[in-house]
Amino acid sequence: MNIKELSKWADDQVFHQTGNRLSSLQKSILEGVLQYQDFCEIKDNNGYSYDHIKREGAKLWKLLSEAFKEDIKQSNVRSILENKAASTIYNFVNSLSSNTISNSQVNICRNKYQSLEDIQNQSSYSQNPTPRIDLTKAPELNYKYGRNSEISTLKEWILENHTRLITIYGLSGIGKTALTLKLISEIQTEFDYIIYRSLDNLPKLITLKNELKQFFCQSQNPLPEIIDYFRLSRCLVIIDDVDNIFQFGNLAGQYLTEYKDYSKFFQQIATSSHQSCLILISSEKPPDIETLEIENKHTKTLYLQGLGEDAKAIFKEKGLKDEDKWDELIKLYQGHPGWLNIIILTIIEFFNGKVSLFLTDKDDLFLGDIEALLENHLERLSELENKVINWLATQNKPIGIFQKPADIELSNARFLQIIQSLTRRCLVEKVLGEEGVKFQLNSLFKAYLNIK
Ligand SMILES: Nc1ncnc2c1ncn2[C@@H]1O[C@H](COP(=O)(O)OP(=O)(O)OP(=O)(O)O)[C@@H](O)[C@H]1O
Ligand SMILES: [Mg+2]
Repeated sequence: MNIKELSKWADDQVFHQTGNRLSSLQKSILEGVLQYQDFCEIKDNNGYSYDHIKREGAKLWKLLSEAFKEDIKQSNVRSILENKAASTIYNFVNSLSSNTISNSQVNICRNKYQSLEDIQNQSSYSQNPTPRIDLTKAPELNYKYGRNSEISTLKEWILENHTRLITIYGLSGIGKTALTLKLISEIQTEFDYIIYRSLDNLPKLITLKNELKQFFCQSQNPLPEIIDYFRLSRCLVIIDDVDNIFQFGNLAGQYLTEYKDYSKFFQQIATSSHQSCLILISSEKPPDIETLEIENKHTKTLYLQGLGEDAKAIFKEKGLKDEDKWDELIKLYQGHPGWLNIIILTIIEFFNGKVSLFLTDKDDLFLGDIEALLENHLERLSELENKVINWLATQNKPIGIFQKPADIELSNARFLQIIQSLTRRCLVEKVLGEEGVKFQLNSLFKAYLNIK
């Protein structure tokens, strides 16, 4: 069934169930959404205001929900209608004598690889909406606090905007994996398949693809490419620790030679039409994804920063004292949960939980075991990045982009490239002031480089 046929079939079902037909605008909205267009595109194609399309869309979902006795919305309409159509026609086929219709005549396929056998497999799937989930490779992480705004941004991107490729990046230990696992727990029913894999052990792309295919084809016939599964079903794939396939000693986000094909794969997911989502997690923002984000509206990037106020819930749970000093502690350690966990242990062990005692010496920032975590970031830097970051550590104020170090041979263009790379690694932050954009080194890295 193509989109027009599916929309006509849905209209017939609505008429059969409710006695009403879809209006021509409702049909256009339905067909647009079935082709993964968002309301902005549908509005442009139909010449109505966004609000009007939104209102008509809401009426459409209500009508379809009534007719199909399911909670139908923009995010799930395609998978529900396809599954309903597949099982209806499967029942119809079964009701005929077995030889009267050959497989090739049963052309209700969602794509060219689907056969009657596929439909039989899927008809059982359509009666069991529980998603198939594989989080066996995911770490078990403590996550109780905050991140409400990040979660709602990600939900909006995934469920409303149908974003195909999302990159979550931020410093190591900032909570990228924890946030993603929390997100999964909140949106899992919107997907047919959810799988988490890490690139910790540097799997070649072909190995990863085979693992994904094995997972997807448990309840259906094997398909040639991952993108085929992405089209056929709502799949959510999480690839963590993507920074592992980037080079050491080069600028940020440069793929190791044997892993360059990952970039093409990510690009294919972002630019092909499908109903799934790939989430990449990395401590470096890859430049190829940055370019994609500019060119392709189905690609989004989330820069994850500290927990802010929400970190106080961790202090409370751990029984820290001196609540009036908690803001200071959060500010010093940037609300970074990984760093704060280390500091909390020290405060409990050596200061009996008293934050005010720990903060007595204001001039000497305690780093302790955080140093090893900072070093993990620094050892990835190129030679020039190293020189520039050491120079940045000596600066008392944010620097302008042409304010390069006098003792290092660097063209303006090269200096800009180095600052850009350090920004992609989350080590250098942009500061917006009256004099425009300035840059400064993350204060903890600055403190560490100055005592190193
Ligand atoms: N919102 C949160 N509330 C409480 N603890 C958190 C939160 N987010 C993360 N943590 C804790 O912080 C630590 C680091 O989190 P996580 O492993 O998710 O970081 P990460 O960014 O994925 O790090 P890496 O890049 O090293 O994989 C974990 O111990 C986790 O339990
Ligand atoms: Mg992680």
